[in-house]
This record gives sequence, C-alpha cells and structure tokens, in this order.
Amino acid sequence: MKITVIGAGNVGATAAQVLANKELANDIWMVDIAEGIAKGKALDMYESMPILHSDSKIFGTSNYEDTANSDIIIMTAGLARKPGMSRDDLLVKNAAIVSSCVAQAVKYSPDATFIVVSNPLDVMTYVTLKVTGLPKHKVIGMAGILDTARYRSFISMETGYSMRDIQAQLLGGHGDTMVPLPRFTTVAGIPVTDLISKEKLDAIVTRAKNGGIEIVNYLQTGSAYYAPGAASVEMAEAIVNDQKRILPCTVLLEGEYGMDDVCVGVPIKIGKGGIEQIIELNLNEEEMAEFKKSAEHVKKTIQQAMELINSQKEE
Ligand code: NAI
Ligand code: 2OP
Repeated sequence: MKITVIGAGNVGATAAQVLANKELANDIWMVDIAEGIAKGKALDMYESMPILHSDSKIFGTSNYEDTANSDIIIMTAGLARKPGMSRDDLLVKNAAIVSSCVAQAVKYSPDATFIVVSNPLDVMTYVTLKVTGLPKHKVIGMAGILDTARYRSFISMETGYSMRDIQAQLLGGHGDTMVPLPRFTTVAGIPVTDLISKEKLDAIVTRAKNGGIEIVNYLQTGSAYYAPGAASVEMAEAIVNDQKRILPCTVLLEGEYGMDDVCVGVPIKIGKGGIEQIIELNLNEEEMAEFKKSAEHVKKTIQQAMELINSQKEE
C-alpha cells in the first residue's frame, strides 16, 4: 500500500502522522510546493516510528514522480481560511492549486482513489473529478466525517455519554448550509431526540454548523487540522481495509435524491472500491428542503469554479 498526501501543511502532516501511527501504508509520501517543509516533516515523523512501533516509511518531496503508483491520494494543498473568511472565499486560489496538483498526481497514479480535503470542499471534489477524468467512485470528498464528529462530540459533552456510542448522519455541502440530521442520530441505538431537549439539540446543531469558524477564531492564523486529519484517515482506512463503512462523504450525485451533476455530502458505503453505494435516506419535507438549498448553493459555486478553470485554460 502506498499513500500520497498532497500538501504538507497542518492537515496534510496530521493526516500523514495518523496514517503512519495506524500503519495503513508501507510508504507514505507528502508532496508540497515547499519541498523543505515536506522533507523536514517527513523525516521528523520517520524518526518517531521506532517510538510509535510502526514500520511505515514517510518521505517528503516536491516531485510527483516519487508518488507514482499510489493507491490513495489525499489532497490537502491549498489556502486555509482566516478570521472573517468563508470557505468560498478560497475558491479562486484553491481552484488553481487543486487542478494543478491533481492533474500531476493522476498522471503518475492513474489507479488511485482520491480523497479531497481542500476547500471549498464540495467544489474541489467536483474539480478533482473533472480534471482527473477518474470514474465517480474514485473521487470522494471529506467533510461529513468532520462535521458529524463535531456534532457527536458536542452531544457527548452535553450528555456525558461515550463518544463511541454516538452515531450521526449529515447531508449537504461543507458550509453554513450543511444539514445535520437529529432524526438519524442515536446514542447506542436510542434516538437522541429522546435524550436531549429540542432547544439543547438545536443549539448543538448550530454549534456544529459553525464548528469550523469557532476553531478559526481561536487560532487566528489558520483553520482546524487535528479532527480534519483524523477524518481523512478514517476514509483511507475504510478503503485500505475494505471495511464497507457507512460514512457521510461528498460524492457526485447523478440522479440520487433527485439531484444531478453536483458534489455534496450523503451517506455512502465505502470500501476497497471507493464509493460502493450511495445511500438514499427517506427524508421528510423539511430535511429535503434544507438539503436542496445546500446543494443549490454548492452548484452555483461549482459553476463559478468551472468557468474560472476553463478561462485559465483559454489564456
Ligand atoms: P496549510 O496552510 O497548513 O497547508 C497548506 C499546504 O499546501 C502548505 O504547506 C502549502 O505549501 C501547500 N501548497 C500550496 N500550494 C501548493 C501547490 N501548488 N502544490 C503543493 N502544495 C501546495 O493549510 P491546512 O490547514 O493544511 O489546510 C489545507 C486545506 O484544507 C485548506 O484549503 C483548508 O481550507 C482545507 N480544510 C478542509 C477541511 C474539510 O473538512 N474538508 C478541514 C480543514 C481544512
Ligand atoms: C473546517 O471546517 C476549515 O473546513 C474546515 O474546519
């Protein structure tokens, strides 16, 4: 197993470290335009392997040839937001960065499954699909695992129940319009609505929707990376170990939920084949309306991104 992480910044380096701790690959490569950062962080991690009892080997590079024949590519390069910025404010710069990185990566690893992390996430997942030309089951965006992890941790903080027992689903784009689903949230199989009052649950949903900016406002210099790094590795682990997990991930919809040609978050079955099934939840009217609103917002931003990319091609 060979896994490449594009971007050796906060999220990329955290993902590489978690991959290595879990020994999910023999070879882990971090690629960054800042070669010294990739090489230095990789060597530092490599040197931690005897202590962590892992035989994963971690390397840094700025040359995509070194990443050839990767099984999985985790795409994290790009700008992160700062206070006052929305994820969509990253669109212009990150569309250029993501399209250039994934085009180079797929040239050397045509059979890889891509896990996209760069923001705005849903749009960058679509860009990756279009630029690589890969089939839809091989390009998966990471957002729902992070957003539900935030939501699950807030439920645990509120109730005192174990994080392990809290299960949740979420739909829509990775942004203010995301749709956490209390009706599909349980604590050890018990509906969460039986355990927490509506007011408290509404407050938790709002906090989860604003989970990204809460961290940005604390850090001031960038955005979250411990939970995002761990979340992208949860997807890689499901693929490497063919776990057939049901996880909320961003995928291309082609008719599912009555939506077409848009990448948004939905529950999928994820295993060796990448996206093995898109699960269509039986939504009520209110949930469907919120989901549609979220997907429409993403679709508009996708159009802007594709216009930008096409105009750059013409120049
Ligand atoms: P960071 O600034 O710490 O790292 C970004 C890295 O990308 C830097 O090391 C930089 O040198 C590298 N880079 C920039 N242009 C490049 C290029 N053309 N080729 C190769 N490397 C290049 O940022 P951080 O915190 O790691 O975030 C990375 C991205 O992930 C951001 O777009 C952020 O918004 C996104 N993100 C998405 C999440 C999600 O849930 N989907 C969660 C957290 C972050
Ligand atoms: C987050 O939600 C920045 O999208 C990233 O933390």
